[in-house]
Amino acid sequence: MSVQTATLDFEIMPTSTPTPEADRLKAFENLGFGTLFTDHMAVIKWNVDKGWHSAQVTARTPFQIDPASSVLHYAQEIFEGMKAYRTADGRAVLFRPEENARRFNESAHRMAMPELPEGDFIAAVEKLVQLDARWIPEGDSSLYLRPFMFASEVFLGVRKATDFIFCVIASPVGPYFKGGMKPVTIWVSQNYTRAAVGGTGAAKCGGNYASSLAAQAEAAAQGCDQVVFLDAVEHRWVEELGGMNVFFVMDDNTLVTPPVAGTILPGITRKSLIELARDNGLTVEERPYSYDDWKADAASGKLKEAFACGTAAVVAGIGTVKHQGGEFKIGDGQTGPVTTKLRSALVDIQRCSAPDTHGWVHVLRGV
Ligand code: PLP
Ligand code: COI
Repeated sequence: MSVQTATLDFEIMPTSTPTPEADRLKAFENLGFGTLFTDHMAVIKWNVDKGWHSAQVTARTPFQIDPASSVLHYAQEIFEGMKAYRTADGRAVLFRPEENARRFNESAHRMAMPELPEGDFIAAVEKLVQLDARWIPEGDSSLYLRPFMFASEVFLGVRKATDFIFCVIASPVGPYFKGGMKPVTIWVSQNYTRAAVGGTGAAKCGGNYASSLAAQAEAAAQGCDQVVFLDAVEHRWVEELGGMNVFFVMDDNTLVTPPVAGTILPGITRKSLIELARDNGLTVEERPYSYDDWKADAASGKLKEAFACGTAAVVAGIGTVKHQGGEFKIGDGQTGPVTTKLRSALVDIQRCSAPDTHGWVHVLRGV
């Protein structure tokens, strides 16, 4: 895939107070998700007259936000999620960063925000990771990267803003779910929906996550790890989880996953797993799958496995599904063999322990 050329020169200003190495090593002893941050951040500003300007990688520090900044009122904000991995032979790599850059611009377009040339998006990520390379954990952990953009114009009128800030921060992470590799339990939301056709479901905007939190809280209150949403019109079709796409593995080795049709996030993990599944001789059907069929297929044994997938969660087997009327198990409630195989196929490419036959790995220079 060709990438739009980078247009910006970055000013690199390393912090004068880097985290002492002993503190970093201590923090690395028990990595969770999203609580630990590196020393730097990349920032680029946009203004309606100047366009993109003032690209920097600098010490990670709070933003000064005017109380009237439009993001605080109208939520003009988008983000991405990607990871840098440390390979067994010591290289630092990204996975399909051009896909994140492209999706970021699709989100920007939907949210009436300026698009950032893909080359500049990737350069911002690369330069941050290059400066914070010692923060990329080894082994199963990784450096989660969070590019985001928000409206910084000081204005309360409702229209697209004239000023934006793009930023990338980095967070060394272990497993997203507290149970690690244990299969997850999910809650079917029957009170809330996530997205309707014509809405923002396909964009990675903060508002989608804000509106998912009541449903996610309901899931947590039921002892579940994640919520799964049904479609907004008929409350019939399975869409996706709060922060992951979903796949179903049938007894004839067919993989079923809801189609990308405007209401779910077009996941990069989802897209990669579809290709890897086909490489492994599986048939993949991107088609609507109903909640009724899900229950019936789990009961009859036609459905063998189900899994959630995304950058943060990687691939997580779904063991139990809870809903207002009770609960049901998928297979024996454990992570199944197809899920395990696809997870390994993906992770092995991401960590360069299998050949990169699709050209997905982006090696970082000088790291
Ligand atoms: N769906 C939602 C709502 C998400 O937040 C994510 C995570 O980014 C995904 C799906 C999976 O997308 P990806 O595989 O690109 O991380
Ligand atoms: C990601 O996987 O990158 C996400 O943004 C999802 C969220 C659950 C952290």
